[in-house]
Amino acid sequence: MKELEVHIGNLRLKSPLMTASGTSGHSGEEMERLATSPQTKASLGAFVTKGITLQPRPGHPEVRIVETRTGLLNSIGLQNKGVKFFVEQELPGLLNFALPIIVNISGSTVDEFSEVASYLNNHDLSETISGIEINVSCPNIKRGGVAFGTDPKQVQRIVKAVRKRTAPRILLITKLTPNIADITLPARAAIEGGSDALSMINTLRGMAINVDTGKPLLGNKTGGLSGPAIKPVGVFMVYECFRKIEQCYKTEIPIIGLGGISTWRDALEYIMAGATAVGVGTAWFVNPNIFKSICNGIKGYVKKRGVKLSDLIGRAHDTKDDTMRC
Ligand SMILES: Cc1cc2nc3c(=O)[nH]c(=O)nc-3n(C[C@H](O)[C@H](O)[C@H](O)COP(=O)(O)O)c2cc1C
Repeated sequence: MKELEVHIGNLRLKSPLMTASGTSGHSGEEMERLATSPQTKASLGAFVTKGITLQPRPGHPEVRIVETRTGLLNSIGLQNKGVKFFVEQELPGLLNFALPIIVNISGSTVDEFSEVASYLNNHDLSETISGIEINVSCPNIKRGGVAFGTDPKQVQRIVKAVRKRTAPRILLITKLTPNIADITLPARAAIEGGSDALSMINTLRGMAINVDTGKPLLGNKTGGLSGPAIKPVGVFMVYECFRKIEQCYKTEIPIIGLGGISTWRDALEYIMAGATAVGVGTAWFVNPNIFKSICNGIKGYVKKRGVKLSDLIGRAHDTKDDTMRC
């Protein structure tokens, strides 16, 4: 599958497809069942875990998932058993995946992010972990619950703190929130903090109300919207970062695009906007063969046109736009 090979920093991916954090199961067993179907494994370039925090988190009250006409609303609340449990009970199984493993981490303070990263760094003796994806969409408890990701200074501090506690071989990806007017501000801050790559987008804030009861449908009242509805937002944000940030334009800082991808055409849209790789989440719930289907579609496209996938990265950018880039 050489024609689909891409590089994200020091990582060579046999395919540009990755799982999206939080959509690949919440126990080692579940992750294994979902991701080790031979077809899925053959089509994936990397596996991204659910979000891990320092201490176990029970998550938000039920109901946690609501289907809407155009996507999924979730308020899982980062339910997980903490980094110690993850390293002892789940990480060993991920070694069998024979795929680069990227661990998604979250925290409520800058110190919590760096402690999780440090724990992973110091306890991953078999070097199973290839990368850490820093989810900066979570609320900062020291700042009244405002999401870290909307404050570029905080983003830079988190990335810097995580970089300090992790070995240089570990790829650092910063996952950005779309709940902001100008995504290039936290993107630049992440790069300045030492991020090797960016991923975008996380879910968009949303809610749904049951008009019969007059009450919000989610136990947490509000949640994050994923799925087809958010794809144009994600494509735009990738396009903006690629166009306005020189390191992204040169693919020195690769972008992983995600949000609403459910066909190979969706994946190519992200790649043409400037993404080097793409993640798929919500669509995997609907179609267990999604990765194979997207992979085959992209393969067919590049074969028919006699191009390499890397030739398509940023294809949607008219060179006349160059003056607008920085
Ligand atoms: C049920 C669920 C749980 C999620 N958990 C996480 C998480 O733990 N960390 C994270 O960074 N993103 C999390 N996300 C966001 C996804 O990784 C992804 O960014 C988002 O859903 C958009 O992609 P999609 O439309 O393909 O699902 C979660 C999404 C869903 C639907």
